[in-house]
Amino acid sequence: MFGLQSLPKKCDFNRIAVLTSGGDAPGMNAAIRAIVRTGHSEDVDIFGIQRGYSGLVEGDVRPLSTRAVAHILQRGGTILKSDRCDAFRDPAVRWQAVEQLRDAGIEALVVIGGEGSLTGAMLMQQETGFPVIGLPGTIDNDIYGTEDSIGFDTAVDTALGSIDRIRDTANSHDRLFLVEVMGRNSGFIAAYAGIAGGAEFVMTPENQFDPDWLYDELVKSHRAGKSSSLVLVAEGAVPGRTQALAQSLIERGLEPRVCILGHTQRGGAPTGHDRMLASYLGAMAIRHLLAGDSNIMLGIARHQLVQVPLTDVAGKSKTLPPGVTDLAAVLRRSI
Ligand code: F6P
Repeated sequence: MFGLQSLPKKCDFNRIAVLTSGGDAPGMNAAIRAIVRTGHSEDVDIFGIQRGYSGLVEGDVRPLSTRAVAHILQRGGTILKSDRCDAFRDPAVRWQAVEQLRDAGIEALVVIGGEGSLTGAMLMQQETGFPVIGLPGTIDNDIYGTEDSIGFDTAVDTALGSIDRIRDTANSHDRLFLVEVMGRNSGFIAAYAGIAGGAEFVMTPENQFDPDWLYDELVKSHRAGKSSSLVLVAEGAVPGRTQALAQSLIERGLEPRVCILGHTQRGGAPTGHDRMLASYLGAMAIRHLLAGDSNIMLGIARHQLVQVPLTDVAGKSKTLPPGVTDLAAVLRRSI
């Protein structure tokens, strides 16, 4: 796992660009560094595009030297900055982006981002033939075709640090806490941080709770001697979900406290795992482009590198396997 593989060189690219798009994720800098250093080791000049697709459309393309990426491995965020670019949904804007790339002499592109960003990459390649490789970069880990994504491990650890602290105060005051973590379409952060943090209940977009059921379960466990409880809630697509759940528990006579972890989960130094994953995927993106591969995302399945057609990734989302939710449910049974 994570060892550099040699691939037959079929393309003589001299200039490859990289951009980060969508929500930033810890480890994106490690991927940029790996792309630059692997590129230079193959005599390819690497260019960084600022602010994702927005910068691409404006032609904000700058050379990245080996020294420019020194000491960024351990930094959260992305040195290239990121953006959610609605204009990129327009085919004419995607053509404009490719014209900017061609004007700058760029021959191929690496896009690091989530499903929306990879869908943009797929459409751009399909319409214009411009070679693109995508890397999964999102704390949500909801990208179809890969078991892991850059930033997920760090986000789980960050959430866990907060959950452990909340547990201390919940325990001291015999309180019920609802802790909201990120995850718009899937509950990977909620489930992993919930299981690792010993949360009593984990509510994900895939597994919604009926407030009456939750109330009954909380009362049952209180009667059985449990004095404090943590309910982890993935934010889901509709804002205010956790507040609404808290309100329905208040109406039933409970006094929950709500803590929304929000964007704290997106920042901070990447874990060792995310640095390794990002370094490996970044290096292999260059090797695959030089081997003539494109219109694919590089991901991980069963600890091995996999190539997933971007057409398979686009428009889909990976949901939490039922077994993970079942594990959370079994482990909470201390009554
Ligand atoms: O990048 C994914 C994510 O962090 C989601 O978990 C969250 O719903 C969303 O981004 C927040 O986006 P923004 O920072 O644009 O508000």
